[in-house]
Amino acid sequence: MRVLVIGSTRGTGNALVRDLLGREHEVRAMIRDEQQASALTDLGATTVLGDLEGDLDGIVDGVDAVAFCAGSGSKTGPDATLRVDLHGAVRVIDRCVDAGVRRFVMLSAISADDPLRGDERIRHYLAAMHARDRILQASGLDATIVRPGGLLHEPGTGRVQVGVPRLDERGTIPREDVAAVMATCLEDDRSIGAVFELISGDTPIVDVVPTITGR
Ligand SMILES: NC(=O)c1ccc[n+]([C@@H]2O[C@H](COP(=O)([O-])OP(=O)(O)OC[C@H]3O[C@@H](n4cnc5c(N)ncnc54)[C@H](OP(=O)(O)O)[C@@H]3O)[C@@H](O)[C@H]2O)c1
Repeated sequence: MRVLVIGSTRGTGNALVRDLLGREHEVRAMIRDEQQASALTDLGATTVLGDLEGDLDGIVDGVDAVAFCAGSGSKTGPDATLRVDLHGAVRVIDRCVDAGVRRFVMLSAISADDPLRGDERIRHYLAAMHARDRILQASGLDATIVRPGGLLHEPGTGRVQVGVPRLDERGTIPREDVAAVMATCLEDDRSIGAVFELISGDTPIVDVVPTITGR
């Protein structure tokens, strides 16, 4: 499968690039700056220049799937959240619809189903996640929406929990485990249409993903 990874340079997106390459998929990593290319080509990916606030021409042409892992970051204000996390994602969704790229895996966030439940400081961010998830669901694309708890820079454990008993218990999960779930979902069409919370747990990812069904 040829997968475009958006948000490929750092965090979960970079872990996903590595995971997909390990599964022998072809990865096209979107970068904002040519200087970011060698770190990704050294891994075995190809790169494409694109900016969620600027030029996205041709980024999805010829790919089988898109994995959206980008974000403006917690240190930016609501304006950047709207421009990058919301509008940037919607522009990518529109390009997929136009180009006929049907498969889409979205990195969303726990509590995105109900932004008002979130802490006041992140409500704008959760509202943006909520809106873009809804837009993706309405797009008609073959989408899987992953809503992890707090992301950790720790090695993955390979074990997760899908769904949380109480949504106000946020939970955490290593980025590598989120990436592994996203990659496994891309390989399993039963996850098309699914929207689910994800935190660390006891169940191996290979056993969990086949139970994630959206249709
Ligand atoms: N942090 C949490 O606890 C948490 C919990 C649940 C969900 N999430 C979601 O997970 C996402 C990813 O978080 P992360 O920590 O794994 O990643 P991250 O380290 O914040 O990396 C963000 C990625 O987005 C890219 N990016 C930012 N602005 C861009 C733009 N205008 N155009 C193209 N790419 C752009 C960055 O590229 P550059 O290197 O070029 O800047 C980078 O590759 C967050 O944005 C959030 O939506 C986070």
